[in-house]
Amino acid sequence: MAGRRGFFREYIRNQSSVGAVAPSSRRLARKMTAPARSWQGNRRWLEVGPGTGVFTLELIKDLRPGDHLDVVELNPAFCEHLREHVLGSHADQVTLHEGSILDVTLESPYDSVVCGLPYNAFPTHLSRTILRRLVSLIRPGGTLSFFEYAAIRYARRLVGNSEVKRAMLWHERFIGRLEEGMSSHRDLVLCNLPPAWAVHLTRNEEQE
Ligand SMILES: C[S@@+](CC[C@H](N)C(=O)[O-])C[C@H]1O[C@@H](n2cnc3c(N)ncnc32)[C@H](O)[C@@H]1O
Repeated sequence: MAGRRGFFREYIRNQSSVGAVAPSSRRLARKMTAPARSWQGNRRWLEVGPGTGVFTLELIKDLRPGDHLDVVELNPAFCEHLREHVLGSHADQVTLHEGSILDVTLESPYDSVVCGLPYNAFPTHLSRTILRRLVSLIRPGGTLSFFEYAAIRYARRLVGNSEVKRAMLWHERFIGRLEEGMSSHRDLVLCNLPPAWAVHLTRNEEQE
């Protein structure tokens, strides 16, 4: 698989799970991984839905002795690309789990979870199940970072049929509740196609 063209080919083959026509920009990758990279001490990170590994590369560059990164990717072609071009000589500190985040066995808790999943493109019940699982994998005080394309729900509500409109409303309510229940901040990244919000949620110390 070669870069952007390979990514687009996987999008055509698996539109509902890939959910984007091109990989994220380096600028978005920097913002998405900033909370994970800022931890002191030995860090335990989880990345979900790396695709061709734009976020993974930022995390790997920052690995220090004693850190560990688990990476979960559903698509076998992306897994092959990651093994060949991204994970390189870091096998002792990076574990690639080929499968769905809902099926793989992981050793939680993590300091940071970086999520590259297209949850706005998933059916609402699936994105809720996945996001709840991701929150449950973070240690108290840990962070979950995910991204959403700017105004995507608004745009899909504008042009979508009644089912899409309802799904976008449910997504919005669910994300709103998540943001209310945790400390939250957002960074707008204009240098991405399309522009995107990097959303960072911090799990409260006493949160179940
Ligand atoms: C929008 S792409 C993002 C790729 C990359 N993070 C980026 O920003 O360029 C979403 C990725 O999530 C993966 N994915 C979708 N559903 C998944 C699941 N249930 N478990 C793990 N990975 C999944 C897809 O195969 C794809 O690689």
